[in-house]
Formats: sequence, structure tokens, C-alpha cells
Amino acid sequence: MAEFSNPFRPGAGHAPPYLAGRHVEREEFVRLLAQRTILDNLILTGLRGVGKTVLLDTFKPLAQARGWLWAGTDLSESTSLSEENLATRLCTDLSPFTSSVVVATGQRRIAGFGTNTETISHTLGYDALVEFYNRSPGLALDKVKAVVQHAWQALSQAPHVRGIVFAYDEAQNLADHPAKDQHPLSLLLDAFQSLQKMGLPLMLVLTGLPTLFPRLVEARTFAERMFRVLFVRSLNEEESTDAIRKPMEDAACPVELADDSVRTIVEMSGGYPYFLQFICREVFDAFIQRIDKGLRGSVPVAEIEQKLDTDFFAGRWARATDRQRELLSVIARLDGAGDEFTVQEVVEESRRTLDKPFSSSHVNQMLVTLSAQGLVYKNRHGRYSFAVPLLGRFITRQAAV
Ligand SMILES: Nc1ncnc2c1ncn2[C@@H]1O[C@H](COP(=O)(O)OP(=O)(O)O)[C@@H](O)[C@H]1O
Ligand SMILES: [Mg+2]
Repeated sequence: MAEFSNPFRPGAGHAPPYLAGRHVEREEFVRLLAQRTILDNLILTGLRGVGKTVLLDTFKPLAQARGWLWAGTDLSESTSLSEENLATRLCTDLSPFTSSVVVATGQRRIAGFGTNTETISHTLGYDALVEFYNRSPGLALDKVKAVVQHAWQALSQAPHVRGIVFAYDEAQNLADHPAKDQHPLSLLLDAFQSLQKMGLPLMLVLTGLPTLFPRLVEARTFAERMFRVLFVRSLNEEESTDAIRKPMEDAACPVELADDSVRTIVEMSGGYPYFLQFICREVFDAFIQRIDKGLRGSVPVAEIEQKLDTDFFAGRWARATDRQRELLSVIARLDGAGDEFTVQEVVEESRRTLDKPFSSSHVNQMLVTLSAQGLVYKNRHGRYSFAVPLLGRFITRQAAV
């Protein structure tokens, strides 16, 4: 049997063996790339593990094929970014492109060689950009605009350069810090809004958790009109099936899944890409072991759930207090806890099922704390959802223990 190693890749940002679905999102991005004047920027938002990072990665070649330069980075560590840091960030992201552009040439006498001269050229590398930023007059906003404009002027000399995409992953970490008088998020939005108005083909693509968009709108109300927001969701049944089956279609693949095994995996995963990869990797290994023993494979549901609970959920659950767990259990009992819930619904359910029910102010207060811990989040319409996929089912399993 030819060596065929386990193709599944559970892990943040790891490219899946087959990227299922996401046609709508990719088409929308291509449509935005065709804008003459950039009116719409893009936000990809959704729960952790739903596939934002790997989707963003697939946008890069789409943009490059259409003449766009792709600048950007992961903002995981950027919670305390200052305005100065943001400017440095932009210079850093632009410099790989600008550093090959010659902006000035001159002659220099070579010492000791009479009238011999050599040609020296200045390129627009990182240092040159930072220097330009520092020398530009005005406030941080003026300086950021000046340096980006300067960079674009240099880059647009090259033929076929259509624009620059600035792609920032984990952008929910961007924040203003009024207490420190630092407003890097507002600065970023102001700068792009203004540069785009001037006709510069610069597009922002931000990805992040569901807290991202409300946070942008809170910083600048015009952010509402500046972005197309795509909510990246779990995969439907057909897409989930593709995510499971396609990587195993190779003739060398020793594992073959029956339809009911595939259905079981789809059901267990809820269509969440991270869970699909996680479960499939486990199933693949389990099947290989059974084949080796001459047995027919079936999906070891209980073992996999157990492993998922320890690897994924247990840490988050352990950090919750008893009373928080009680509240989360009430929520998990609500019909449709997979979707959205309101404070009122939680209060009513707790009255029906608890000796010591929760008051609505108590629920409100606790949901704020749980939001800060990343277990729930509040959407723009004031409704809450679990911020961790399939948390409800995990809680239900805990209650059954
Ligand atoms: N469309 C998809 N089809 C199959 N697997 C996917 C898909 N999108 C993401 N994955 C897998 O899901 C996991 C989480 O993806 P990631 O992009 O890191 O999520 P996020 O950035 O939203 O937290 C990775 O293991 C990735 O390979
Ligand atoms: Mg990610």
C-alpha cells in the first residue's frame, strides 16, 4: 500500500486539504476588486475556527492575478497598538514593495580616483518611508496619509499595478485607547476613508471575531458605510461532505467512508470547519488502525467527543465560575441556543428550571463578563450567541455526566 498520510489539518490558519464552499465570499471579493473608486472595503467576520484565515489566504492570489499588491499581517498581538505603531505597521507592510522602487539617483565622486564618479540610487525602503513619515508636517493622520500617498505614487509608476490590498487578520484586536489619548483604530479608518476619497486604489480587508464590526462602528460611525460585511458561517451539508470526501478521493487513500459515516461526521461537527478537520483526522487514524486489524471501520463517536471535550472545550469551561456554568447551562437548554438568545429568554428559562432563578440585571451583568471571556457575544441587534461553536452541545454533555 502506497504511503498516504492523514490529510486533515485541524489548526488555526492551516490550509485545509480541500477548501469547501466559500464561492459567494470569493465572488464578492472579486467584485470589490473591480471597483474604480474604492467605496466598499471588506470585513470577514465569524466565530473562531470557522475558516476566516484560510479564506483570506485564498483571496491573495485572486487579488494578485488582477494586478493588486497584497500587503498585510496578523494583528493578534496588537491590542495595545499606538498611533505611532500603526504608522510603523503601515510602513512595514508597504516596504517589501517600495524597497525595489528607485526614487532618486545621483552621482558621487569616488575618493582617490580623480574625476571618477559612481551612480548611487535611493530606493524607498522601510527607513526611507519612516523618515518620510517623520518629516511630514501635521498630525498623525496627515503624516500617515502623506506616507501612504508617497508610497503609492512610487508604486503606481510600475505598469499593471492596479492597487494595494491591506489585509489584516485578527483585526478585532485593533482598539482606541482614549485614556492614553491613542486612537489607532480611528486613525486607520480616517486615513483610508480620506485616501479613498482622493481616488487612491487602496482597499482594506479585515477579518476578525464578531466583535470586530461593532467595534469599528463605535470608533467611527461612517465605518458602517465603508465596509461590506460577510459573515463566514459553518458549511452546509453538501459543502461539509465535500470537505470530508474530497481529500480522500485519491486512489492511494487507504480509507473509504460509507455514507452513514460521512453523515455522522457532518452531524457531529455541525459543519464547523475546525471540527470537521479535527473529527476527520481522528476518524482517519481510527480507520487505519481497524483496517490493520482486519476490522471494518465505524466512526468512534464517543471517543472523539471525549477528545474534543478535553482538547477544545474543557479549558474554557474550567475558567467559568459555578454560577456562570449554571447560567450557561440554562442557555444551552433554550430552544435554538445554537442561534441567538435574549436576556428575557434566559430569565424565563431560569424561572422555569432553577430554584434560585436569575434576575434580568444579573443576567445582563454576567453576559458582559462572559463576553469579555470570549464565551458569548452580543450582536448589533442586542441579541446574544455563544462565541464558541457547539458550546451548547458540550454543556449538555457535561450535564449528562
Ligand atoms: N472551507 C473550508 N473547508 C474545509 N476546511 C476548512 C475550511 N475553512 C477552514 N477550514 C479548516 O478549519 C480550521 C480553522 O480555519 P481558520 O481559517 O484558522 O479559522 P478562523 O481563522 O476563522 O479561526 C483549519 O483547520 C482549516 O483547515
Ligand atoms: Mg484565524
